[in-house]
Amino acid sequence: MANVFSYSIGRKLIMSASGVFLILFLLVHLTVNSFLLLDPLMGTNEGEMFNAGVHFMGTNPMIKIIEPILFVGFIIHIVYSLILTLQNMRARGSAKYASGNKTPDVEWASKNMFVLGIALVAFLVIHLAHFWTPMKFTGDPLLTDATFSYFGEITTGHNAYALVHATFQIPWVIIAYIIGGVALAFHLSHGFWSAFHSVGFSNKIWIPRLQKASVIIAWVIGLGFCTIAIGQYFFFPLS
Ligand code: HEM
Repeated sequence: MANVFSYSIGRKLIMSASGVFLILFLLVHLTVNSFLLLDPLMGTNEGEMFNAGVHFMGTNPMIKIIEPILFVGFIIHIVYSLILTLQNMRARGSAKYASGNKTPDVEWASKNMFVLGIALVAFLVIHLAHFWTPMKFTGDPLLTDATFSYFGEITTGHNAYALVHATFQIPWVIIAYIIGGVALAFHLSHGFWSAFHSVGFSNKIWIPRLQKASVIIAWVIGLGFCTIAIGQYFFFPLS
């Protein structure tokens, strides 16, 4: 028997739900990573706030539950984007699944969602190999113990700052983060409002407003990540 997963609308719903979940993850991730720039401004040396943020993300029981869901969310989002793209190509040439009047950013992004998605997957492979793999599995000589203030108590954890800081001294890595951040901004500038459109929200007043909000949220997130990487490279060289 056919079910919701076999219909185009069911697939769009799954893309929307997993996409919105991923945007929430990105907002939390950007907040923790912004500590890399806030640390020196607040006078906390050697990435104390950042290490405390990473420690929280690595040890908090709620985050430990959310992490596998995030992983499944990524896989679902990528697999369904492949299915949707193939389905659209078969149904109406190169036309994509979204429609309506759009701002130029949203228009361009909506035509290139799949290519942007591929650029993001390539970025993620590099990103996870640099940070997530050593921190979770393989270790790294830079990941020594560091002490930092954690909810008022002096705590010991990974020196994630040393690894991130050293990685952001490599020029091609910064270029990869700029490409990744810009691809993310374009991808989200279509993806955010499209998530609402796909679940049947088609109000003529609110859709244009959502499109404008999408562009703002998308570029804050995308340029936020770029700024952190560029800032580390130019303003906080290895001492
Ligand atoms: C300045 C930019 C960024 C920095 C400094 C950064 C830093 C990190 C670090 C240190 C980890 C490892 C955390 C751990 O294992 O405990 C991590 C994991 C991760 N990052 Fe990023 N990240 C950045 C941008 C991004 C972007 C743009 C994306 C998505 C497009 C992303 C997606 C992820 C994912 C999916 C994980 C694995 C899940 C997790 O451990 O939370 N990151 N990142």
